[in-house]
Amino acid sequence: MGARPPLHHQSHHLFVCGEQYKQKTVIAMSDIYDKIMDLAKRRGFIWPTSECYGSVAGFIDYGPLGSMMKRNIENAWRRFYVVGEGYYEIECPTIGQEDIFIASGHVKGFSDTMCQCPHCREYLRADHVAEAHHVSGASTLKNEELARVICTLPCPACEEVLGPVEVFNFNLMFQTSIGPGSQRRGYLRPETAQGMFTDFQRLLRFYRDKLPFGTVQIGKSFRNEISPRQGMIRLREFTQAEAEIFVHPEAKDHPQFSRYDGYLVPLLGISQQRDNLPPVLYGMGRAVREGIVANEYVAYYLALTHELLVSIGVNPAKLRFRQHLPDERAHYAEDCWDAEIFSERFGWVETVGIADRTDYDLRAHERQSGERFSVFIPFETPLKERRVRVVPDMGTLGPRFRGKAKEVAEAICASAPGPEGVTLTIDGEAVQISPDLYEIREEVVEIPGMDITPHVIEPSYGIDRMIYAVLEHTYHEEMVEDEERRVLRLPPSVAPLKVAVFPLMNRDGLPEIAREIAEEMRKGNIVAEYDDSGAIGRRYRRQDEVGTPFAVTVDYDTKEDRTVTLRDRDSMRQVRVPVDGLARCIRSLIEGESHFSEL
Ligand code: GAP
Repeated sequence: MGARPPLHHQSHHLFVCGEQYKQKTVIAMSDIYDKIMDLAKRRGFIWPTSECYGSVAGFIDYGPLGSMMKRNIENAWRRFYVVGEGYYEIECPTIGQEDIFIASGHVKGFSDTMCQCPHCREYLRADHVAEAHHVSGASTLKNEELARVICTLPCPACEEVLGPVEVFNFNLMFQTSIGPGSQRRGYLRPETAQGMFTDFQRLLRFYRDKLPFGTVQIGKSFRNEISPRQGMIRLREFTQAEAEIFVHPEAKDHPQFSRYDGYLVPLLGISQQRDNLPPVLYGMGRAVREGIVANEYVAYYLALTHELLVSIGVNPAKLRFRQHLPDERAHYAEDCWDAEIFSERFGWVETVGIADRTDYDLRAHERQSGERFSVFIPFETPLKERRVRVVPDMGTLGPRFRGKAKEVAEAICASAPGPEGVTLTIDGEAVQISPDLYEIREEVVEIPGMDITPHVIEPSYGIDRMIYAVLEHTYHEEMVEDEERRVLRLPPSVAPLKVAVFPLMNRDGLPEIAREIAEEMRKGNIVAEYDDSGAIGRRYRRQDEVGTPFAVTVDYDTKEDRTVTLRDRDSMRQVRVPVDGLARCIRSLIEGESHFSEL
C-alpha cells in the first residue's frame, strides 16, 4: 500500500469508441456539475450535511429521492453479484480493531502526500497540486521529489506560489477508541473488504470447504481525505460495494466465462497509455488469449462491470477500463484495472477497481492473527510417497540416558542419521549414538491433498461516484414548445419514482379516482407519487426533472370508460390504457418486459 493513484488519470487522449471528449469541451461544459448539483439539492437527491451548522466538506446527505435512487443502484449491483453470481452478502462492523488494519497495511501505509501552504495555511494534497499542472505520475514520486516539483506552483486556495514546503504522509484512517478508558485502539474501516477477509474461515465452512466462492458487502467506508473539493466524487464517508472472490491460484478460469467471451470492452492497456493511444475494443476471450488481461476472472469482471454500469444509465461512450501501470499497481497485485467514467467537470474518474490481489490479504491476516487462512484441497487420487522414518529405540535409550532420553530421541530424529550412527551435541556435550539405538524404516505414506492459500479477485465499486455519473449522463436539456425541458433519462429500475398519478382537474371526483389508482400502484409494489398541484404541463416537467419514467393522468373520459392517459417520459408520447390491469402494465414496462411503443 502507499500513495493512492490519482482520481482522474490525465490522458491527452479522451477518445472512446469513436467519440471525442476534448479538454475544450470539458471547460465549455463544466457548468453541468453545477446544474446537476442544483437539481439534486432542489429536488431532494443530495444535500450538504448538517447545513444548519455550516456543513463539513466530504460528507453528504441523501435526501428522499437520492436515498431511493441509491438503494435502486445498490439493488442493481446485488442483482449482478448476489443473484447472478451467487455470492452471498455479509455485513461487518464499520469500526475494526487495530490488528485488522496492521495486517492489511493500512496503519503503516494508507496515506496521501500532504503539504501546508505557507501563505494561507491551507492543507493541500501535494500530488493533486502537481497533477493539476500536468505533472505525470505525481502520486508515484518520493516526498522530496514532489516538494521540488510543487515549489514553483501556485497554491490552489490562495494562488500564491508555494515556495519551499515540506511534503509528508498523512494517514487517511479515522482513529477511535473502543470502550471506556481508551484501552483499545480502533479505526473506521477505509474499505469494506477487510471484514470479508477476517471472516474467511467461517465463509469457507459456509461454502462447504470448496473453491471458488465469493462474498460481497455493501456499506460505508471512511477516509479522512485531505482536502475534498470534488463534491460527491471525493467523500470522507462513502458507500462501497465490494466482492471478494476466493479462487485456487492455479484455476483462474471463470466457470461462466463463455458469457463474456465475445463481449466488447474499451481497454486502455499499459501499451496504449505508454504510446498515448486511445482505448481498444477487445472481446474478453481475445484480451485473455493475447495476455492483455491477466486471466479469465479479471476479464469476466471487466465485462460484468461494463454491463452493470451501462444498465444503470452510464453512457457507454464515456466509459473505459484503464490498466494500472506497473509503478502504480500494488506490488502484490497480478493485474489491476479501473473502470473510469468521463465527467464534464472532473475528467476520467476512477469508479470501480478490479484487481487480482493474489494471496496477499489472506497471508497478511494469517501472519498477524496466527490463525489458518488456507484451504485443504483433496487430490482426486491420493498421492503415494516413499518416506524414510527414524524410530528411536526407547527401550535402550531410557536406561542409558534416563531423564535426557526424550531429548536425545528427538535429536536423533532431527539429525536424520544414516546406518552408521551419528554424533550429537546434547547440553554442550558430544554424544555418540550407535546404530543399535534407532531403526531406519522405509514406508509408503498416502498424501490425501494439500493446503493452499487462495487468491483473491476483487471488484470494488464506489456507489456515490456511480450515482453522480448516472445523474450527469442521464441529464438532458431540450426545448419543447419554446420551453426548456430538463429531464433525467434514468432507467426505470434506477428512477426513484416509477410513476406519477395526476388528476387533470382538482374537482368532479377526479382526485379521488387518481388517489385510488396511486394506491393500486403501491399495492402492486410500485413507487407512485400523487400530484395535484399546478398546471398539468408543470406537473409533467417536475416528474421529468426527477426521472419518473411514466405518468398517468385521470380525466373526464376516465369516468366514462375507465381509461387513463399513460405518458412516456422519454418520447413524451401518450396512449390511452384501461385502469384495469394498469399496475401490471406499468410493472412490465419498468421491468423491460414490454415497451411503451407496443402499447
Ligand atoms: N478494496 C479496494 C478499494 O477500496 P479503492 O480503489 O481505494 O479500492 C474502490 O476504492 C472505489 O471506492 C473507488 O473506485 C471509488 O469509486 C470509491 N472511493 C474510494 N475513495 C473514495 C472517496 N474518498 N469518495 C468516494 N468514493 C471513493
